[in-house]
Amino acid sequence: MQQTITSLTLITSLLLVLVQCNMSEGEKDTKATMKNKQSVSASALDEYTYARPEEAVITHLDLDVEVNFASKIISGVASYNIENKTGANMIILDARGLEIEKVTLEDGQATEFALVGYNQYMGRKLEITIAENTSRINIHYASRPEAIALQWLNPQQTADKKSPYLFTQSEPCLARTWIPTQDSPGIRFTYSAKVQVPAGLMAVMSASNPMEKAADGIYNFEMRQPIPAYLMALAVGEIVFKSIGPRTGVYGEASVIEAAAYEFGELEEMLATVEKLYGDYRWDRYDLIVLPPSFPFGGMENPRLTFATPTIIAGDRSLVSVVAHELSHSWSGNLVTSATWNDFWINEGFTVYLERRIMEELYGKSYTEMLAVLGYQDLKSTIEHLGEDSEDTHLKLNLAGRDPDEALTDIAYEKGALFLQTIEEAVGRDKWDEFLKNYFDNFAFQSMTSDRFVEYLNKELIGDDKELAARLSVNKWVYGPGIPETQTINVSERFAIVDQAVASWENGATPSELGTEKWTTHEWLHFLRHLPSPLSEERLTLLDREFELSNSKNAEIVAAWFIHVISNNYRKSYGKLEEFLIKVGRRKFLSPLYKELAKTQENKKVAVEIYKKARKNYHAISYVTIDGILGWEQSRYLSKD
Ligand code: BES
Ligand code: ZN
Repeated sequence: MQQTITSLTLITSLLLVLVQCNMSEGEKDTKATMKNKQSVSASALDEYTYARPEEAVITHLDLDVEVNFASKIISGVASYNIENKTGANMIILDARGLEIEKVTLEDGQATEFALVGYNQYMGRKLEITIAENTSRINIHYASRPEAIALQWLNPQQTADKKSPYLFTQSEPCLARTWIPTQDSPGIRFTYSAKVQVPAGLMAVMSASNPMEKAADGIYNFEMRQPIPAYLMALAVGEIVFKSIGPRTGVYGEASVIEAAAYEFGELEEMLATVEKLYGDYRWDRYDLIVLPPSFPFGGMENPRLTFATPTIIAGDRSLVSVVAHELSHSWSGNLVTSATWNDFWINEGFTVYLERRIMEELYGKSYTEMLAVLGYQDLKSTIEHLGEDSEDTHLKLNLAGRDPDEALTDIAYEKGALFLQTIEEAVGRDKWDEFLKNYFDNFAFQSMTSDRFVEYLNKELIGDDKELAARLSVNKWVYGPGIPETQTINVSERFAIVDQAVASWENGATPSELGTEKWTTHEWLHFLRHLPSPLSEERLTLLDREFELSNSKNAEIVAAWFIHVISNNYRKSYGKLEEFLIKVGRRKFLSPLYKELAKTQENKKVAVEIYKKARKNYHAISYVTIDGILGWEQSRYLSKD
């Protein structure tokens, strides 16, 4: 198998070199805007990088930078070990909005460089002149204050409100806005970093981390396992650490650390659970950092240090599936990595599948069924939104020419997970688990395309079993739209009971008659998603009074409730809604709420007034999306390059 893959890779790289050689300079520059480029071969051509790794590739980074809060600039030197595979006279990196001061080679001599071309989400090509035997380049550079990956928070925007804070979000291709790099999920490198921050603050990275503050504000990091650039991460602030188990712990601001340590108290068990199923954890420690509330995602799987939103701290551990998800990425994603963003489901679909397996081990089947049904509801509505036949509902995507952020949807997550669940049910759990364990072993620290996965699946699992092949219709799942016919249906007995509560509510039952006493967050979500609309002010008041929904400390519940608040013009809770929108920057909550507000003239005015106050608190990833929803005048991209 390995043999086949190696020769396949060789042939495709050769093809690629040929294809690229035949392109004129102009054509190369518009590489990303060409449609159907992928059909040239089954290769792992990443249309979101200018790099040509088959010619000259980075293998190790030594980063030496200073973080300046006053100027909102990260500056210093990114030194790379490189491998010049073909004796090329140039190595190409990605840079977006970076100031490049100079580039030197291993002997310290300056070499020529140029920033060439421009694309609004790819940035520019950084061409560096090298010799046949060049093994190291040192890039002296600075980021810009508006770098999209970075959010610089003033003290007021943090939980403790005492010190400024900085965090990065590099996925999918934003690493290049704070480090010049070959920014492709298919290119891996190890790294070390020396980071100077203001004394009194702590710095942490996706690497070996300090557990205590350094008096001089200088921190040293090391990542010994090779990772792609989208997993480069840094957070700086008044951060403290609390240990959870021998290999696990949590970072956060002082005011959240105790709650976080309780919420994630089962981290060590979770880690042991995945190891039991899918093999050793290869990254030494696993810690989490709870970021300020503006973090635009639920979680980000930065290796060794998951970045997480504080909105998963519900007080009752009911939202820890996000942690199970990010931890699972230590296998699916960080170990075996989507070769390109078109293969995003290789990261996320596998991870949602793993996440549910962990949840089943720790919380049981009926609990996990609820998660799967909620996921299925999301999948259905995404397909409905995109259109049954839309190519964007394929697992293998064709993002060509678009901002990847626009087309990375729930499809990769939920259709991907459903596909893997379908295979599991067809071949049996034992066989499937063995297959997965071998998959992670065989391809550890490598990248994976959809095509290569299909090939491996056919060879290792399906073999000559024609009946199984027909039953699975792998090609329909991976290369076709919508949800192929499947025997796999997710149902939840616990939700059947909630459905009855919805029915009695519709028949006029009072809140206390609904039997909600033992409901978890997930039952509440199902209930709120299925409440009829419109609802009278009187009925809304009854619900709100009895269950304190507008005051809920559970972000998932309160966000689902606010949808009804908005669609029914339940003005009493608009104050709470505004508070939430000003404080929380997690896009998954913001988008549906602003979309709901934008549905009527009157509410849209409310939205705009709130947004005027809230926008400055959001990370660029979130406000770019909300700008679109509200038709905000800001330009989509902040700087021209
Ligand atoms: N890797 C993703 C976050 C991401 C995806 C960032 C695409 C940038 C581009 C992360 O693992 C994730 O999926 N987070 C989810 C939570 C999860 C439980 C579904 C989120 O943030 O909502
Ligand atoms: Zn994920």
